[in-house]
Amino acid sequence: MTDVTSSEQYLKLSVFSTSAYYARVHVQRVLEGWHRDDLIEAAVLVTSELVSNAVKAHASCSAITEATAQVDPDHIWMDLYRVGETIVLRVWDASPLAPVIRDPAPDDESGRGLHIVDLLASEWGYYRPSPGGKIVWCTLAASPGAPE
Ligand SMILES: Nc1ncnc2c1ncn2[C@@H]1O[C@H](COP(=O)(O)OP(=O)(O)OP(=O)(O)O)[C@@H](O)[C@H]1O
Ligand SMILES: [Mg+2]
Repeated sequence: MTDVTSSEQYLKLSVFSTSAYYARVHVQRVLEGWHRDDLIEAAVLVTSELVSNAVKAHASCSAITEATAQVDPDHIWMDLYRVGETIVLRVWDASPLAPVIRDPAPDDESGRGLHIVDLLASEWGYYRPSPGGKIVWCTLAASPGAPE
């Protein structure tokens, strides 16, 4: 269960297309618990994009190393924590490949998820932790002048 009293929230997710839904519900609940309703809409959207990407990357990853397999070959994970007024969201998957912003043509059906993240997050990026795979992270902060 989501423990909304904790300052750090970890969620292990199966590599299913439905996982983005569970991640969205989790994030909404955590931010409600943190009284950060101002960030729920943006957080839910970026969560959906990052978790969907992680599911696709993890499922198609042929580079599950021994080290990564020891972490967990069957799941991705996400966590949320607070740094002052800023929320940090991280999503791990087993693929070492980097997320790359695409330049989709108007009739392309994909290639827009990271544009949404780029628009809504204050910052985002990725790194490769030592056990393997990759963590894509983003920070969310209230817009200056936004009502509290
Ligand atoms: N977690 C990830 N691991 C590896 N590659 C990734 C990851 N996230 C994104 N990418 C790469 O970055 C590209 C752009 O991601 P983006 O989310 O913008 O588009 P998409 O997932 O292809 O389509 P859409 O999100 O619009 O359904 C992806 O096509 C993929 O090649
Ligand atoms: Mg995507």
